[in-house]
Amino acid sequence: MQVIYPGSFDPVTYGHIDIIDRCSKKFDKVIVSVLNNRAKKNLFTIEERVEFLEKALKDYDNVEIDTFSGLLVDYARKKGCTTVVRGLRAVSDFEYEMQMALMNKKLEKDIETLFMVSSGKYAYLSSSIVKEVAMFGGDISCFVPAEVEKALREKIKGGLK
Ligand code: COA
Repeated sequence: MQVIYPGSFDPVTYGHIDIIDRCSKKFDKVIVSVLNNRAKKNLFTIEERVEFLEKALKDYDNVEIDTFSGLLVDYARKKGCTTVVRGLRAVSDFEYEMQMALMNKKLEKDIETLFMVSSGKYAYLSSSIVKEVAMFGGDISCFVPAEVEKALREKIKGGLK
């Protein structure tokens, strides 16, 4: 079975990588789908976000990195994959995730959303919190791959836009 793991990944963190790693052991193929949404103000471009993922996941034979725009259900149909995986970090994620899962189901009855519980050690991570810690000079090396850390530091030096 193949699954789609969608998100903004701005940038990818070890929390995302943990979910992808565990999915790669349970499913034949994991399609990591980066949302290309011009309306959302991302720190990193779609190309940068994809590159970070490609580098971090280069050793996984059954992980594909892709991008999408528009509705997730339309993309899923196009990919011929009707199973979406989302990570759940805390109870606070649940309401939003439930709403998305139900909306997706309403839009496309064949879509199923599977929730994977985050590893405890990453349950408090988010891309924004990592960016904030980096901005104030905190150590982020245990939250993101070295490439991402370097790129974040460079963005900060160049002045965050
Ligand atoms: N570990 C660490 N952080 C995690 C995480 C994990 N396992 N899972 C999620 N996060 C963080 C992300 O880093 C992100 O942090 P941020 O808000 O600080 O940037 C946050 O949780 C949100 O996660 P993300 O997975 O990027 O979701 P999203 O809400 O940006 O996007 C989509 C979710 C892409 C699936 C959704 O917006 C979508 O499908 N959009 C397409 C349009 C559509 O179909 N809309 C209708 C659907 S209802």
